[in-house]
Amino acid sequence: MTSRMGLGALRLTDRGWGPPVDRAAAVEVLRTAVDLGVGMIDTADSYGLGANEELIAEALRPYPEGVVIATKAGQSRPGVGEWVPLGRPEYLRQQAELSLRRLRVERVDLFYLHRVDPAVPLADQVGALAALRDEGKIDRIGLSEVDVDTLEAARAVTEISAVQNKYSADDRTWDAVLDHCTAEDIDFVPWRPIPVADDAVATVAAELGVAPAPVALAWLLARSPVVRPIPGTASPEHLRQNMTAESVRLSAEQIALIDRR
Ligand SMILES: NC(=O)c1ccc[n+]([C@@H]2O[C@H](COP(=O)([O-])OP(=O)(O)OC[C@H]3O[C@@H](n4cnc5c(N)ncnc54)[C@H](OP(=O)(O)O)[C@@H]3O)[C@@H](O)[C@H]2O)c1
Repeated sequence: MTSRMGLGALRLTDRGWGPPVDRAAAVEVLRTAVDLGVGMIDTADSYGLGANEELIAEALRPYPEGVVIATKAGQSRPGVGEWVPLGRPEYLRQQAELSLRRLRVERVDLFYLHRVDPAVPLADQVGALAALRDEGKIDRIGLSEVDVDTLEAARAVTEISAVQNKYSADDRTWDAVLDHCTAEDIDFVPWRPIPVADDAVATVAAELGVAPAPVALAWLLARSPVVRPIPGTASPEHLRQNMTAESVRLSAEQIALIDRR
Protein backbone atom coordinates (compact mmCIF):
# COMPACT_ATOMS: atom_id res chain seq x y z
CA MET A 1 0.00 0.00 0.00
CA THR A 2 1.40 3.41 -0.91
CA SER A 3 0.65 6.58 0.99
CA ARG A 4 -1.70 9.41 0.02
CA MET A 5 1.37 11.56 0.63
CA GLY A 6 3.46 12.54 -2.38
CA LEU A 7 6.77 14.32 -2.90
CA GLY A 8 7.23 17.48 -4.96
CA ALA A 9 10.56 17.22 -6.76
CA LEU A 10 10.95 20.86 -7.81
CA ARG A 11 13.57 21.67 -5.16
CA LEU A 12 15.79 18.76 -6.15
CA THR A 13 17.11 20.74 -9.10
CA ASP A 14 18.74 24.12 -8.55
CA ARG A 15 16.14 26.91 -8.18
CA GLY A 16 13.84 24.83 -10.36
CA TRP A 17 16.09 25.73 -13.27
CA GLY A 18 19.51 24.09 -13.21
CA PRO A 19 20.86 20.61 -12.56
CA PRO A 20 20.78 19.20 -9.01
CA VAL A 21 23.08 21.08 -6.62
CA ASP A 22 24.02 17.80 -4.95
CA ARG A 23 23.08 14.93 -7.24
CA ALA A 24 23.81 12.12 -4.78
CA ALA A 25 21.75 13.83 -2.06
CA ALA A 26 18.85 14.39 -4.47
CA VAL A 27 18.92 10.73 -5.55
CA GLU A 28 18.91 9.74 -1.88
CA VAL A 29 15.82 11.87 -1.15
CA LEU A 30 13.91 10.23 -4.02
CA ARG A 31 14.90 6.69 -2.98
CA THR A 32 14.10 7.38 0.67
CA ALA A 33 10.66 8.68 -0.35
CA VAL A 34 9.97 5.38 -2.12
CA ASP A 35 11.27 3.39 0.86
CA LEU A 36 8.86 5.34 3.07
CA GLY A 37 5.94 4.41 0.81
CA VAL A 38 5.40 7.69 -1.04
CA GLY A 39 2.41 7.48 -3.39
CA MET A 40 3.36 10.07 -5.99
CA ILE A 41 6.43 11.94 -7.23
CA ASP A 42 5.60 15.28 -8.83
CA THR A 43 7.82 16.80 -11.52
CA ALA A 44 7.46 18.84 -14.73
CA ASP A 45 9.17 19.14 -18.10
CA SER A 46 10.25 22.63 -17.04
CA TYR A 47 11.83 21.73 -13.67
CA GLY A 48 15.55 22.00 -14.26
CA LEU A 49 14.68 22.32 -17.97
CA GLY A 50 14.32 18.56 -18.07
CA ALA A 51 17.05 17.75 -15.52
CA ASN A 52 14.43 16.98 -12.86
CA GLU A 53 12.80 14.22 -14.91
CA GLU A 54 16.24 12.79 -15.79
CA LEU A 55 17.14 12.74 -12.10
CA ILE A 56 13.94 10.85 -11.24
CA ALA A 57 14.68 8.22 -13.90
CA GLU A 58 18.26 7.85 -12.67
CA ALA A 59 17.14 7.46 -9.05
CA LEU A 60 14.06 5.29 -9.40
CA ARG A 61 14.25 3.06 -12.47
CA PRO A 62 13.00 0.39 -12.53
CA TYR A 63 10.06 2.34 -11.16
CA PRO A 64 8.48 0.77 -8.10
CA GLU A 65 4.98 -0.62 -8.40
CA GLY A 66 2.24 1.71 -7.18
CA VAL A 67 4.18 4.99 -7.21
CA VAL A 68 2.61 7.51 -9.60
CA ILE A 69 5.16 9.58 -11.52
CA ALA A 70 3.37 12.78 -12.47
CA THR A 71 4.74 15.37 -14.87
CA LYS A 72 3.47 18.49 -16.61
CA ALA A 73 3.84 20.63 -19.71
CA GLY A 74 2.56 24.05 -20.65
CA GLN A 75 4.98 26.46 -19.00
CA SER A 76 7.98 27.74 -20.97
CA ARG A 77 11.08 28.91 -19.07
CA PRO A 78 12.85 31.80 -20.78
CA GLY A 79 14.90 32.53 -17.64
CA VAL A 80 15.46 31.64 -13.98
CA GLY A 81 12.27 32.43 -12.09
CA GLU A 82 10.30 33.07 -15.29
CA TRP A 83 7.31 30.89 -16.09
CA VAL A 84 5.36 31.75 -19.23
CA PRO A 85 2.32 29.65 -20.22
CA LEU A 86 2.67 28.02 -23.63
CA GLY A 87 -0.21 25.74 -24.53
CA ARG A 88 0.00 25.36 -28.28
CA PRO A 89 -0.94 21.74 -29.07
CA GLU A 90 2.23 21.04 -31.06
CA TYR A 91 4.35 22.27 -28.14
CA LEU A 92 2.44 20.15 -25.60
CA ARG A 93 2.93 17.12 -27.82
CA GLN A 94 6.66 17.80 -28.22
CA GLN A 95 7.09 18.22 -24.47
CA ALA A 96 5.20 14.99 -23.76
CA GLU A 97 7.54 13.15 -26.14
CA LEU A 98 10.54 14.65 -24.34
CA SER A 99 9.12 13.66 -20.94
CA LEU A 100 8.72 10.07 -22.14
CA ARG A 101 12.37 10.04 -23.18
CA ARG A 102 13.72 11.66 -20.02
CA LEU A 103 11.61 9.60 -17.62
CA ARG A 104 12.40 6.57 -19.79
CA VAL A 105 8.84 5.27 -19.80
CA GLU A 106 6.44 4.26 -22.54
CA ARG A 107 3.52 5.95 -20.83
CA VAL A 108 3.33 8.80 -18.30
CA ASP A 109 1.10 7.91 -15.31
CA LEU A 110 -0.33 11.40 -14.84
CA PHE A 111 0.27 14.32 -17.19
CA TYR A 112 -0.87 17.83 -16.28
CA LEU A 113 -1.48 20.91 -18.33
CA HIS A 114 0.79 23.06 -16.14
CA ARG A 115 -1.08 26.27 -16.91
CA VAL A 116 -3.99 27.12 -19.14
CA ASP A 117 -2.59 29.39 -21.87
CA PRO A 118 -5.08 32.23 -22.37
CA ALA A 119 -3.86 32.66 -25.94
CA VAL A 120 -4.92 29.15 -27.01
CA PRO A 121 -8.48 27.71 -26.94
CA LEU A 122 -8.84 25.46 -23.88
CA ALA A 123 -10.33 22.67 -26.01
CA ASP A 124 -7.16 22.62 -28.14
CA GLN A 125 -4.87 22.36 -25.11
CA VAL A 126 -6.91 19.66 -23.40
CA GLY A 127 -7.55 18.02 -26.76
CA ALA A 128 -3.79 17.64 -27.31
CA LEU A 129 -3.51 15.77 -24.03
CA ALA A 130 -6.57 13.64 -24.86
CA ALA A 131 -4.95 12.65 -28.18
CA LEU A 132 -1.78 11.63 -26.31
CA ARG A 133 -3.86 9.51 -23.98
CA ASP A 134 -5.71 7.90 -26.90
CA GLU A 135 -2.29 6.97 -28.34
CA GLY A 136 -1.32 5.34 -25.04
CA LYS A 137 1.41 7.88 -24.25
CA ILE A 138 -0.21 9.14 -21.08
CA ASP A 139 -2.53 7.37 -18.68
CA ARG A 140 -4.38 10.12 -16.81
CA ILE A 141 -4.82 13.86 -17.47
CA GLY A 142 -4.61 16.65 -14.88
CA LEU A 143 -4.95 20.43 -14.81
CA SER A 144 -3.14 22.99 -12.65
CA GLU A 145 -4.36 26.29 -11.20
CA VAL A 146 -7.89 26.08 -12.57
CA ASP A 147 -11.25 27.28 -11.26
CA VAL A 148 -14.44 25.22 -11.34
CA ASP A 149 -15.67 26.67 -14.66
CA THR A 150 -12.38 25.88 -16.39
CA LEU A 151 -12.33 22.40 -14.92
CA GLU A 152 -15.86 21.76 -16.17
CA ALA A 153 -15.07 23.20 -19.61
CA ALA A 154 -12.10 20.81 -19.82
CA ARG A 155 -14.23 17.88 -18.64
CA ALA A 156 -16.60 18.60 -21.51
CA VAL A 157 -13.64 17.78 -23.80
CA THR A 158 -12.22 14.76 -21.99
CA GLU A 159 -11.89 13.02 -18.64
CA ILE A 160 -9.84 14.94 -16.07
CA SER A 161 -8.43 12.84 -13.21
CA ALA A 162 -6.55 15.38 -11.08
CA VAL A 163 -6.36 19.08 -10.25
CA GLN A 164 -3.14 20.55 -8.84
CA ASN A 165 -3.80 23.93 -7.22
CA LYS A 166 -1.98 25.94 -4.51
CA TYR A 167 -3.76 25.14 -1.27
CA SER A 168 -2.94 24.89 2.42
CA ALA A 169 -4.30 25.65 5.88
CA ASP A 170 -3.35 29.30 5.38
CA ASP A 171 -4.35 29.62 1.72
CA ARG A 172 -7.94 28.58 1.06
CA THR A 173 -8.35 30.38 -2.26
CA TRP A 174 -9.35 27.18 -4.02
CA ASP A 175 -11.85 25.87 -1.42
CA ALA A 176 -14.64 25.71 -4.01
CA VAL A 177 -12.47 23.73 -6.43
CA LEU A 178 -11.56 21.26 -3.70
CA ASP A 179 -15.23 20.84 -2.76
CA HIS A 180 -16.09 20.30 -6.42
CA CYS A 181 -13.31 17.72 -6.84
CA THR A 182 -14.57 15.94 -3.72
CA ALA A 183 -18.11 15.80 -5.11
CA GLU A 184 -16.87 14.58 -8.51
CA ASP A 185 -14.20 12.19 -7.13
CA ILE A 186 -11.29 13.95 -8.85
CA ASP A 187 -7.88 13.89 -7.12
CA PHE A 188 -6.98 17.28 -5.62
CA VAL A 189 -3.21 17.70 -5.35
CA PRO A 190 -2.31 20.76 -3.26
CA TRP A 191 1.03 22.36 -4.02
CA ARG A 192 2.75 24.51 -1.39
CA PRO A 193 0.80 22.47 1.18
CA ILE A 194 2.86 23.54 4.22
CA PRO A 195 2.16 27.06 5.56
CA VAL A 196 5.24 29.14 6.31
CA ALA A 197 4.00 29.94 9.81
CA ASP A 198 0.47 29.37 11.05
CA ASP A 199 -0.58 30.00 14.66
CA ALA A 200 -3.39 27.42 14.71
CA VAL A 201 -1.15 24.72 13.21
CA ALA A 202 1.61 25.61 15.71
CA THR A 203 -0.84 25.38 18.62
CA VAL A 204 -2.07 21.93 17.57
CA ALA A 205 1.51 20.74 16.91
CA ALA A 206 2.49 21.81 20.44
CA GLU A 207 -0.56 19.96 21.88
CA LEU A 208 0.43 16.77 20.05
CA GLY A 209 4.17 17.15 20.60
CA VAL A 210 4.96 16.88 16.88
CA ALA A 211 6.38 19.27 14.28
CA PRO A 212 4.00 21.74 12.55
CA ALA A 213 4.50 20.37 9.00
CA PRO A 214 2.88 16.95 9.58
CA VAL A 215 0.00 18.67 11.40
CA ALA A 216 -0.63 20.96 8.41
CA LEU A 217 -0.48 17.92 6.11
CA ALA A 218 -2.76 15.85 8.39
CA TRP A 219 -5.30 18.69 8.27
CA LEU A 220 -5.19 18.54 4.46
CA LEU A 221 -5.68 14.76 4.46
CA ALA A 222 -8.65 15.17 6.80
CA ARG A 223 -10.10 17.97 4.65
CA SER A 224 -11.18 15.52 1.90
CA PRO A 225 -10.46 11.94 0.82
CA VAL A 226 -9.46 13.17 -2.66
CA VAL A 227 -6.53 15.25 -1.32
CA ARG A 228 -3.01 14.05 -2.18
CA PRO A 229 -0.44 16.59 -0.93
CA ILE A 230 2.98 16.92 -2.61
CA PRO A 231 5.22 18.80 -0.16
CA GLY A 232 8.61 19.54 -1.67
CA THR A 233 11.80 19.04 0.29
CA ALA A 234 15.48 18.49 -0.28
CA SER A 235 15.90 17.40 3.34
CA PRO A 236 15.67 13.71 4.32
CA GLU A 237 14.67 14.81 7.83
CA HIS A 238 11.76 16.92 6.55
CA LEU A 239 10.77 14.11 4.18
CA ARG A 240 10.53 11.66 7.09
CA GLN A 241 8.51 14.20 9.06
CA ASN A 242 6.12 14.82 6.17
CA MET A 243 5.59 11.11 5.60
CA THR A 244 4.27 10.73 9.18
CA ALA A 245 1.27 12.94 8.33
CA GLU A 246 -1.07 10.01 7.76
CA SER A 247 -0.46 8.77 11.29
CA VAL A 248 -1.20 12.15 12.92
CA ARG A 249 -4.73 11.94 14.32
CA LEU A 250 -6.43 15.31 14.72
CA SER A 251 -9.45 15.71 16.98
CA ALA A 252 -12.58 17.46 15.70
CA GLU A 253 -11.64 20.43 17.91
CA GLN A 254 -8.13 20.61 16.45
CA ILE A 255 -9.49 20.46 12.90
CA ALA A 256 -11.98 23.20 13.76
CA LEU A 257 -9.20 25.36 15.25
CA ILE A 258 -7.18 25.14 12.01
CA ASP A 259 -10.36 25.61 9.95
CA ARG A 260 -11.44 28.76 11.78
CA ARG A 261 -9.78 31.76 10.15
N1 LIG B 1 1.42 23.26 -10.25
C1 LIG B 1 2.18 24.29 -9.98
O1 LIG B 1 2.02 25.37 -10.56
C2 LIG B 1 3.27 24.17 -8.97
C3 LIG B 1 3.93 25.31 -8.50
C4 LIG B 1 4.94 25.13 -7.56
C5 LIG B 1 5.26 23.86 -7.11
N2 LIG B 1 4.62 22.77 -7.59
C6 LIG B 1 4.92 21.40 -7.12
O2 LIG B 1 4.52 21.33 -5.77
C7 LIG B 1 5.62 20.90 -4.94
C8 LIG B 1 5.52 21.59 -3.61
O3 LIG B 1 5.60 22.98 -3.84
P1 LIG B 1 6.10 24.01 -2.76
O4 LIG B 1 5.54 25.31 -3.11
O5 LIG B 1 5.85 23.45 -1.41
O6 LIG B 1 7.58 24.24 -3.08
P2 LIG B 1 8.95 23.60 -2.86
O7 LIG B 1 9.83 24.42 -3.72
O8 LIG B 1 8.91 22.17 -3.09
O9 LIG B 1 9.31 24.00 -1.32
C9 LIG B 1 8.76 23.49 -0.16
C10 LIG B 1 9.32 24.26 1.04
O10 LIG B 1 8.85 23.68 2.26
C11 LIG B 1 9.97 23.31 3.07
N3 LIG B 1 9.62 22.11 3.82
C12 LIG B 1 9.25 20.90 3.34
N4 LIG B 1 8.99 20.05 4.36
C13 LIG B 1 9.21 20.74 5.50
C14 LIG B 1 9.12 20.41 6.87
N5 LIG B 1 8.75 19.18 7.29
N6 LIG B 1 9.41 21.37 7.79
C15 LIG B 1 9.77 22.59 7.40
N7 LIG B 1 9.88 22.99 6.11
C16 LIG B 1 9.60 22.05 5.16
C17 LIG B 1 11.11 23.11 2.12
O11 LIG B 1 12.37 23.27 2.72
P3 LIG B 1 13.43 22.02 2.84
O12 LIG B 1 13.90 21.68 1.46
O13 LIG B 1 14.48 22.58 3.72
O14 LIG B 1 12.68 20.91 3.48
C18 LIG B 1 10.82 24.24 1.11
O15 LIG B 1 11.31 25.46 1.59
C19 LIG B 1 6.85 21.27 -5.77
O16 LIG B 1 7.97 20.50 -5.41
C20 LIG B 1 6.38 21.01 -7.18
O17 LIG B 1 6.50 19.63 -7.48
C21 LIG B 1 3.62 22.92 -8.50
